[in-house]
Amino acid sequence: MKDTSKKAQEELSLEKDLLQGLLDNIPDAVYFKDLSNSIIRANKFYVKGMGLDIKEIIGKTDFDFFPYDQAKQMFEDDKSVLATGRPIVGKIERTLLPNGTWNQVITTKIPMYDKTGKSIGTMGITRDMTTYANLERERITMLINALTILGKALELRDPYTFSHTRHVASIAESIVKVLGWDENRLLGMRLAGELHDLGKISIPLDILNKPGKLSRLEYCLIQEHVVNCYNLIKDIEFPFPLAEIVYQHHERLDGSGYPRKLKGDKIIQEARILAVSDVLEAMTHYRPYREALGIDKAQEELEEGMGLKYDSKVVEVVFKLIKENGRKVFWVGQQATLLGR
Ligand SMILES: [Fe+2]
Repeated sequence: MKDTSKKAQEELSLEKDLLQGLLDNIPDAVYFKDLSNSIIRANKFYVKGMGLDIKEIIGKTDFDFFPYDQAKQMFEDDKSVLATGRPIVGKIERTLLPNGTWNQVITTKIPMYDKTGKSIGTMGITRDMTTYANLERERITMLINALTILGKALELRDPYTFSHTRHVASIAESIVKVLGWDENRLLGMRLAGELHDLGKISIPLDILNKPGKLSRLEYCLIQEHVVNCYNLIKDIEFPFPLAEIVYQHHERLDGSGYPRKLKGDKIIQEARILAVSDVLEAMTHYRPYREALGIDKAQEELEEGMGLKYDSKVVEVVFKLIKENGRKVFWVGQQATLLGR
């Protein structure tokens, strides 16, 4: 009897060693938490990544290691896995480690059950993507630098278009921040704002800045800036649909825009934001061919077109921003007051 029990214990211990050996050889952080979110087991990779001793980890929760907001998000994720029984797969996060360094990770969390099917906690697998993310960031920075040079060429030629695109980028960025989009989408939006009129580089200045009414042919030429810009950037790979955003920035929800007369859902969110930002900037600033029309006129235009030409939610955010900033030009600092008041 004694021998059988000893044998069973030896087998269990061997099984545990095998499991730990297997876990320790996985080049990802693997950790198990109980129902109260305390860490009950972690592999070597996790311990090394945290820069702590295993004894300092077991029995603790994420709140002991990470900034409050970060830990709270992790806690919410664990709670949701436990409550629904559904795993969270491949969630991309940026985390601040106890040693003060940021890393970019991709995390999967799955529910754990005992032999009777009773929930006993969660297992997390986190892969460090920092090196890859840094390489990607470097690549994007290089691309942005190259495109900035193109922007500067546009500035030399037509300072009005350049300041317009910078302002539009700021407005779009402010809207995205209110909407709570992630860093990547925010960068895409900012960049689209800065580049959306780059295609104007090939349009003669006397047409671009012509006072008075444009002929049909001149108007068609100006409209071409959208396709020009799309063609300039369409083959460059970005982690966001930059060329498509630019391509759609003159489209309107009711199909009255150009160049493809896209309607409703066919117009992506970023292009809707760019469209509203573009109109707001253009109407509130002086152009060589006309005086600034002012904030009241811009608001009138956006209000009239709300839900018809322009995305209602985006217009609402813009009105909120204008109100919160005391009807000042929030996109170029707090000093200047919007013209027309
Ligand atoms: Fe444009």
